[in-house]
Amino acid sequence: MMVSPTYLGIDLGTSELKALVLSQSGEVLASAGSPLTVSQPRALWSEQEPSSWTDALVKACRSLQVAHPQGYAAVQGIGLSGQMHGATLLNSKGHVLRPCILWNDTRSAQACAELKTACPDLEKITGNLAMPGFTAPKLAWVRRHEPEVFAQTSKVLLPKDYIRLQLTGEYVSDMSDAAGTLWLAVASRDWSDAMLTATGLTRHHMPRLVEGCAVSGYLTDQAAQLLSLKAGLPVAGGAGDNAASAIGLGAVRAGDGFISLGTSGVIFLTTAAFAPNPANAVHAFCHALPNTWHQMSVMLSAASCLKWVTDLTGSASEAELLKSAAQLTETERANCPLFMPYLSGERTPHNDADASGAFIGLRQSHHAAHLCYSVIEGVSFGLLDGLNALRKAGGTAQELQLVGGGARSTLWAQLLSNVLNVRIATYVVSSVGAALGAARLAQLAVEGSDPSSIARICTQHTVDKLYQPQDSERLALAARYARFAALYPILSATFKASTA
Ligand code: XUL
Repeated sequence: MMVSPTYLGIDLGTSELKALVLSQSGEVLASAGSPLTVSQPRALWSEQEPSSWTDALVKACRSLQVAHPQGYAAVQGIGLSGQMHGATLLNSKGHVLRPCILWNDTRSAQACAELKTACPDLEKITGNLAMPGFTAPKLAWVRRHEPEVFAQTSKVLLPKDYIRLQLTGEYVSDMSDAAGTLWLAVASRDWSDAMLTATGLTRHHMPRLVEGCAVSGYLTDQAAQLLSLKAGLPVAGGAGDNAASAIGLGAVRAGDGFISLGTSGVIFLTTAAFAPNPANAVHAFCHALPNTWHQMSVMLSAASCLKWVTDLTGSASEAELLKSAAQLTETERANCPLFMPYLSGERTPHNDADASGAFIGLRQSHHAAHLCYSVIEGVSFGLLDGLNALRKAGGTAQELQLVGGGARSTLWAQLLSNVLNVRIATYVVSSVGAALGAARLAQLAVEGSDPSSIARICTQHTVDKLYQPQDSERLALAARYARFAALYPILSATFKASTA
């Protein structure tokens, strides 16, 4: 029997590796996940063992093979997506030198200032502000604090590109993920010698660059055996998880955008041209398609704040806690404390690794439901700060797609619509996400990435619910936002003193 080609999409997340098999007509035939753990050996540190990524990949692929043997056997191409910015350091034999320093590790704040001194044109070249989340400052930290590791470093790879190395034996990255290193001249889509020199590195330490929808290498015999796939399958460049999600959501035209409420909180807008605003810590990166860019605001803690307050209050589940928050009256909501959502520091717009979480206005009468409301409101206000920073750089959005764990809450979706003053669209398709985008990039790499293929493959999903801003709620929220916005300038010195 002739079986139509299928595509394998892999997304290396922070808490889980997800993989799926996509049919040629765009249907998700099977999906699987395998959990990952993050280690936090010290305050501000966040690390992961690269070997755990490959183990998780093998497990997820076995589950896919069991779930849909025919679809898995018909895989014609592989696409990769992953958590961005992580520094995976390899010696000349390709062996890992230390645990990967992850995107949400903020130890390198001091290194950012040093980088800026070493390369005063940093913002002009990269279009971005030096922030501890990015890769270059992490290397500057390693150079200073672990000189023996730095001396042995022969290649620096982003997390998903380490998986690619295991699959193809090739050192390659794609433009969207490479843009988050701070070594890329984002407008010209090439490594910047000036930025590499500022970190004591050269182009030899960097992987080769390809576009997300181009072939980056081919599956080796060894990897094919491990994953029970055909040797020689093309592996697409793929994308950083946010650009991959955009491909999965069909956010490929200027003005298309989404909010991702995952561990981090992201507002992503596709732009027709490179549109930087480093002063407000806007991320201006390449998109996963040629000649396309995007802007992004990034909060370091988003849905993770909800998980935190659920654990803190000993609540049965996030869903139960949200249910009790949804029952609060208008007056009760107006009297909830304000929440500063900076549990892991903040990027956009404050770029402050020392920023911390806080409840302001606690009273004896407050219980778990109030704290839950405060938390989702505080995260929404943080996202509004981010959207305002994108707007300052010319970004516009009338409607944003909402994805990630937080998208399951109708209370939060409506609140976001009211706070951001945009329509919010949610979906039933559970597989909407970066793994789908990765599989679509594999399909483009195999079938061609001309504009008509992009339009055919990168479609948008059918909207399940559309939330409209409610004028009746917006006034009270605007008053609370004004109080929220006044807090960070007052508290930032206290935050700094408490982390010193
Ligand atoms: C983006 C960022 C996060 C990670 C999460 O700049 O740091 O969204 O990509 O995986």
